[in-house]
Amino acid sequence: MKRMLSGIKPTGQLTLGNYLGALRHFVEYQDEYEMFVFIANLHCVTEYQEPAQLKKNLKDAIALYLACGLDPEKSVIFLQTDVMEQAQLGFIMMCNTYMGELNRMTQFKDKCAKGEKNITSGMFVYPPLMAADILCYDADYVPVGEDQKQHVELTRDLAIRFNNKYGETFTVPEPLVAKVGARIMSLQDPSKKMSKSDETNKGCIYLLDDLAVVRKKIMSAVTDMCACVRYDKENQSGISNLLEIMSCITGEPIDSICARYEGKGYGEFKKEVADVVCEEIGKIQARYKEIMESGIIEKVLEDGAKKARYVAHKKLDKVQRKIGIEIRKRS
Ligand code: TYM
Repeated sequence: MKRMLSGIKPTGQLTLGNYLGALRHFVEYQDEYEMFVFIANLHCVTEYQEPAQLKKNLKDAIALYLACGLDPEKSVIFLQTDVMEQAQLGFIMMCNTYMGELNRMTQFKDKCAKGEKNITSGMFVYPPLMAADILCYDADYVPVGEDQKQHVELTRDLAIRFNNKYGETFTVPEPLVAKVGARIMSLQDPSKKMSKSDETNKGCIYLLDDLAVVRKKIMSAVTDMCACVRYDKENQSGISNLLEIMSCITGEPIDSICARYEGKGYGEFKKEVADVVCEEIGKIQARYKEIMESGIIEKVLEDGAKKARYVAHKKLDKVQRKIGIEIRKRS
């Protein structure tokens, strides 16, 4: 069985973008692949997070993993910090990554372009840690949204470099980016990605938003003057984004949705998008509540950590022997 791994960094509440671009694919794939899904809590602290809020976001994220359908019987679900091997391999990967490669990472470049001050060194070296997250488990595939593809590509480069230098060690992973829904845009500014750190909050739908708020956000999504429900990302980015959201959730092809709305107005279209999104999120929220009340989270994490550690430990040992820093006999 091929192996798949992915993770989310809950620096805020999980969003509809996280769900459509990543999380729902984890759920779809868990029957077909050996699935490892983790919470990237170490990645969260590359920027300051208020500790109490961070704890809440982490717990909510695990509950949402389960609420969206990840099944601990089928998937290994764990916290990044429960497997210290990942951070240790992360350092080794940093030692095999060039500064020039990190300077070219879009996320880092965007921060510099915005003139952000006090970018931490943790933020700068985050991609090799992400590479270690993946390579520790010899993942064949990494399902991600569009914005993370560059990091998985760097991971491939690092795996190939390491294998060339030290001999076959890592599986070279492939990013899996869906055709529809891999880049859900802000409802208020469809030129920007829907993001957890949305400043106004209006452009981003959070999975735990009140359903009345979700509806309001969709009904006030930015559109255009064309008055025609058409998929045209360049000229009708807002409508195209809503079409992607709807198609992802219902499975109805975008063309077919457009045909149904021929000659109809944006109000009616938005109302259906809101109905579809609220129904989907409503189901997730109902399960989220049950999970929070059930107290199963600790047990899921404990079991997941044990299984993940077993795999990661063997890999790290192999790597350390290859590079010459492990001098004891294998026990
Ligand atoms: P993060 O937390 O930013 O995002 C988690 C996943 O959600 C996807 N995503 C989106 N997809 C579509 N539309 C959007 N608007 C949208 N916003 C986010 C992301 O592409 C991602 O797949 N570095 C990672 C976490 C990570 C990781 C890993 C992932 C750490 N180690 C190893 C995979 C494998 C991150 O910050 O994702």
